[in-house]
This record gives sequence, C-alpha cells and structure tokens, in this order.
Amino acid sequence: MKRIQKTVLVVAMFFLMSPLVLIAEEAMTRTPFGRTKTGAPVEKITLTNANGVRAEFLTRGATFCSMNVPDRDGTMADVLLGFDNVAGYESKGNQYFGCTVGRVCNRIAKGKFSLDGKSYQLYINDPPNHLHGGDGNSLDKVIWKADEVPCEQGASVRFSYNSPDGEENYPGNLLIEVTYTLTDKNEVRIEYFATTDQATPVCLTNHAYFNLAGAGSKTVLDHILTLNADRYTPTDETLIPTGEIATVKGTPLDFTTPHVIGERIEKLTNTASIGYDHNFVLNRKGKGLELAAKLKDPKSGRVVTIFTDQPGIQFYSGNFLFGQKGKQGKTYAHRSAVCLETQHYPDSVNKPQWPSIILRPGEEYRHVCVYAFSVE
Ligand code: BGC
Repeated sequence: MKRIQKTVLVVAMFFLMSPLVLIAEEAMTRTPFGRTKTGAPVEKITLTNANGVRAEFLTRGATFCSMNVPDRDGTMADVLLGFDNVAGYESKGNQYFGCTVGRVCNRIAKGKFSLDGKSYQLYINDPPNHLHGGDGNSLDKVIWKADEVPCEQGASVRFSYNSPDGEENYPGNLLIEVTYTLTDKNEVRIEYFATTDQATPVCLTNHAYFNLAGAGSKTVLDHILTLNADRYTPTDETLIPTGEIATVKGTPLDFTTPHVIGERIEKLTNTASIGYDHNFVLNRKGKGLELAAKLKDPKSGRVVTIFTDQPGIQFYSGNFLFGQKGKQGKTYAHRSAVCLETQHYPDSVNKPQWPSIILRPGEEYRHVCVYAFSVE
C-alpha cells in the first residue's frame, strides 16, 4: 500500500513540476505589463540565456527595460534604469529610459530640414530644437508588435512598427524593425532595419541608462570609460553641432585611454552640456562592427563593451536625472547613470558634409549595436 502511495506521489509530482521545468527552460517569455493611459496593452518580453542572465524588453517604445548580470563574485544586479509599471514610463520621470529613439535621435536644429526641394517643420520639444523624434508618437512612446524569431546566436525578439506618412511630420510610410538577441556570451545585440516609400531621414538608437553597480546606485562618476574616438562634434549653446570636427586631445573629452568619469566632469558643469553630453566621432577602419566604448565599474568588476557599425556615439552622463523614483522605489540621482548611444552625428540632416541619414525607397536602413557584458 505504502509503495503504491509513493509511486502515485512521484508521478503526481512529475506532472505538477513539468510545466515549471518547461517554463524555466524557455528562452523567451511574454507577460502582460499593464495598460497605457489610453488603454493599450503593454507586454514584457523576457529573454534568458544558458548562464541564467536575463534581458527584458517592453512593447512600449521597443524598450530595453532590464538587464540582470553577475559581478565578479557572481552576484546579479539589474544595471538598467527603468520603472515597474506603464505609469512610470508615461511619467515626466521617464527621460527616454532604455527606449528605441527615432525617427531621428538627438537634435535637429529648430526642427527644420529640407529634402528634395520640400521644407519640413518638426515638433520643438527641446526649445529651440527638435529632440529624439518629437512628441506624442515618437518611437519611444508607441506600442510595437513583438515576435519571437529563430536565431542561432541566442534568444531573439523582433519588434516592428509601421510609422505612417506624416507621423511627427516626417515624410514617408516607414516600416521599422528592431531585433534584440541575447547570446550565451552575455551579449545583447540590437539590429535595426527600416524601409520607406518616400525619401526621409532615419537615425535610430537605443537610450539605455547604465549603472553597472546596479540601477539606483548613487553615482556613475566612479565608472571608468574608454571611447574609441579621437574627435568629437563641438556644439553651440543649444547643443546643435557647429559642423566642425575637433580633436579631443587636451580636453576633458579625451577618453582614448581609460578615465574615471568624475575625474574631469566639473570642467564641463558650466558649459551648455552641463556635463558630458557630446557626440564622439568613432575611429573606424571599415564598415563592420568595431569597438566604440568600454564602461567598467571598478567595484563590482562589471563591464559593458559596445560595438557598432555607426559613425558616432553620444556619451551622456545623466545630467538631467533629478532623483525620480524608478524600479523597486530606487531613486535615480543626478549623474547616476550614463547613456552611450550609437548613431550618426546630431543634426546630420542639416549638414551635407557629414554621412547622410536620408533613406530612399528601395534602400534599407541598417544599424547594429552590441552591448557585451563581462567582468574583470
Ligand atoms: C541627449 C541629452 C538629453 C537626453 C534626454 C540624450 O541623448 O544627448 O541632451 O537630455 O538624451 O534624456
């Protein structure tokens, strides 16, 4: 009798546990994350790799919302700023946390450009300029479709969005795809793709805010940064590039060798950027993926190394973070996170001498950015 009971118990346990085992092994899961103010459902997509590392994304803004990585002792921490709910993402506290930025990231002078003889006026949301794609329907705010895609390199999710002609006053129906892959080497690979039916400017990026000691840690000024850039694009008082390309030599912008972020930042406090908020011209040898930046937290040993095929990277030291409450009630203080945004140079649409951001019918916009996480 006892033996029969035991067998029944073992069989019952097996059937009860097997769904859990299946869930634990699944590389991509999707869970409801809540609804926007207008009632649209938002989903959270979780990618997990063989090391138990988890990367999470939201359908709102095709947002990279959390990244749990080990320190040199194996202790995990979420290194990305974000919120626990949709209301947080819809609040003033959300300064583009982790989102996909576009149609054109960074600033366009006075929101104006002309293309093929026609003038366009974009929304001025960072007076006197246009910033990060505009207002209500910029790519960070809309809901994207998410699909699991087969990928040999790891677990992969593809976000897609059809931006209609005239959205945010940009011309052309633009089909956009952003694919995130989490590999077993703890890399998050972002692949951008877009096509259009009319000529239009396109320059997408990701706006992840990193603090490698864990999001909500007091400062990022103790992190060590290296940038593969000998030059940068100086700006005017409104952060619009003057068109000049200058050397970083002899300035606080020289990160060609590793420097602690806080070492020279005060020299920039009384400038237009009130800290680091500069586009660096990447040293490039060819057209493929090349090293752009390396960020290290010396205490935890966590490192993120960034590779891209883009000509520039914006290094922004979180100067406008103001102590907003984020995930798990943690506070995001002034200069407590950095963004390293791979991109074309800001205001390229008005700088014919720089690499073009105009996409024409029949062409494909492509951009790859890899965040490789490791420890030292
Ligand atoms: C820009 C900053 C801006 C921030 C918004 C960065 O990409 O360079 O100037 O304030 O985004 O959060």
